[in-house]
Amino acid sequence: MGAGVQAKSQVTTVRLVTEETLENLLTETRHFPPSAEFVAQANVGLELYDEAIADRLGFWDRQAGRLKWDKSWTEVLDWSDAPFAKWFVGGRLNVAVNCVDRHVDEGFGDQVAIYFEGEPGDTREITYAMLKDEVCRAANALAELGVGKGDRVAIYLPMIPEAVISMLACARLGAAHSVVFGGFSAEALRSRIEDAQAKVVITSDGGYRRGSATALKPAVDEAVSKSPCVERVLVVRRTGQEVAWTDRDLWWHEFVDTQSPDHTPEFFDSEQQLFILYTSGTTGQPKGIVHTSGGYLTQAAYTHDVVFDHKPGKDVYWCTADVGWVTGHSYIVYGPLANRATQVMYEGTPDTPHKGRWWEICEKYGVTILYTAPTAIRTFAKWGHEIPGQFDLSKIRLLGSVGEPINPAAWMWYRRVIGGDRCPIVDTWWQTETGAIMISPLPGATTCTPGSAMSALPGIVANIVDDNGNYVHETEGGYLVLSEPWPAMLRGIWGDEERFRETYWSQFPGKYFAGDGAKFDVNGAIWVLGRVDDVMNVSGHRISTAEVESALVSHDAVAEAAVVGATDETTGQAIVAFVILREHAEVSDDTVEDARKHVATEIGAIAKPKRILIVKELPKTRSGKIMRRLLRDVAENRSLGDVTTLADPAVMGLIQTGLASGATDED
Ligand code: PRX
Repeated sequence: MGAGVQAKSQVTTVRLVTEETLENLLTETRHFPPSAEFVAQANVGLELYDEAIADRLGFWDRQAGRLKWDKSWTEVLDWSDAPFAKWFVGGRLNVAVNCVDRHVDEGFGDQVAIYFEGEPGDTREITYAMLKDEVCRAANALAELGVGKGDRVAIYLPMIPEAVISMLACARLGAAHSVVFGGFSAEALRSRIEDAQAKVVITSDGGYRRGSATALKPAVDEAVSKSPCVERVLVVRRTGQEVAWTDRDLWWHEFVDTQSPDHTPEFFDSEQQLFILYTSGTTGQPKGIVHTSGGYLTQAAYTHDVVFDHKPGKDVYWCTADVGWVTGHSYIVYGPLANRATQVMYEGTPDTPHKGRWWEICEKYGVTILYTAPTAIRTFAKWGHEIPGQFDLSKIRLLGSVGEPINPAAWMWYRRVIGGDRCPIVDTWWQTETGAIMISPLPGATTCTPGSAMSALPGIVANIVDDNGNYVHETEGGYLVLSEPWPAMLRGIWGDEERFRETYWSQFPGKYFAGDGAKFDVNGAIWVLGRVDDVMNVSGHRISTAEVESALVSHDAVAEAAVVGATDETTGQAIVAFVILREHAEVSDDTVEDARKHVATEIGAIAKPKRILIVKELPKTRSGKIMRRLLRDVAENRSLGDVTTLADPAVMGLIQTGLASGATDED
């Protein structure tokens, strides 16, 4: 059986949609057109769709004109080597120059690029002129360490400006960065460093989270001790906490701050690799998603402009994501900076030191555009509208959502409580692989339905197909596919061409398979219904069931594990694990707790199962495949679906009556 066939059967055996989502989709009758005031000042209107339909490549050709190119391209798209695309062929540019120098050269050096707010309350105001100096210093420092075109640099930092500066410094040199979210464990960091063969790691002593200094350097020390490819580690001093030190380490304030603020940029090919970003797939091994320069920056800048209706020099924009995720890459660093945004960057958690911290920040900086995740919105809704009600949020004029389906109730709360019933909401669907927003309302043109991402942006072609790749009829469910290449598309999986072809292009030949289920409603709006593969979405973060299972079975008490994502009111999905213990292992809450901690050590706290249920058997088909659907029924306290394909139909009874332990975690 070919790998593609296998992938297909995996997909079709899983549930497409939850009952609740379907219910919403069929009954949602609320529609919100933009106000006349918003329409009058909007950056773009409906005409943009016509323009893109009339000549899609011509449309992208014009969008690339947003950037500053050293040399123009000869061809918009080369798709002859599909699925490996080349956009703006022959064009040359420097991404960092586009995000920083260009604005200074045009006379905007004094405009604030970043208002940084540390969790303890310390602040920094960084203008574009200052950012340029910092990026040049960091580029000079990295160059002195031997980093140049084509090298990889791993970045493992908290949400501090040096994260942005480091990314731009790499871009300036033509080196690819691989940012690893600071919440990942030493082991997860090691595997990413090794896979990309990074030669330098940039980290800090620690960062502030939940009111205290959390260490980062020890994880780097551990990871680097097993990664001979790493030559130097550059360490930002953020918290001042004690750190272990070796000859390999350099302090940022000693080595970078003393560099010259002048750096002459080189210009690179449009297809120069810009970054690798690891994301979970259906196997235990994360995939290094590769993005390049010209096409990526074009679409990041275009979408940031038209989706957020951004006005340079006027708006105060705040994307609450971490730079460790793709949202931070495209909508903190590249899109906004290419568009000369003034933005807020916040280091900490939303409830430190109080549950109104975000709204206090919005008031303080006069935030006008806020981009966040449904999980955060649901958490705030749970805390109550009185908290944001204490702050002046009247400057906010547009709200965005990303990372997971937003349920209509959360959408309505967001609109009413945060948006004062006046702001458009853009529910943006995209992925690490797509690089930039693909499906979203245009805020000055689209009448929105709560819970729907509405339609593909001008220039993007998205469809919904059935198992056989045929387009589905209105109100039928199917798989979300992207039928035409787009500028910010991934250029591959780092070091694994076959996996790239198989994961995204083998399911429906000629089309990109996104891994999401979707449906059109009666008005033709797209509802993205969640993953159809074994990838969970916990608080907007992608985690693979296989990765958590493999972490669990590496614990010496665990013989077998099956992991499912169970619907969760706040986090969208929560990780629930069913484990069979080894004979010697003690059935106890301690064992369960230890297994949970082990997952945090192997992957990171975000992957820690919320519940671990000890069972004697797992439901399997006669061919030995675990039937996750039934486990999900148990995890979600539903009555069981069809059990006739089970090798042993009695197993489910055994599981339901024999659950020995069920430690839960509410944090
Ligand atoms: O399932 C979809 C969900 O998040 C997945 C992509 O995850 P990741 O690569 O980590 O990127 C997240 C930030 C772009 C998708 O396959 N997803 C993302 N945005 C939405 C969404 N699901 C529904 N609605 C969205 N707006």
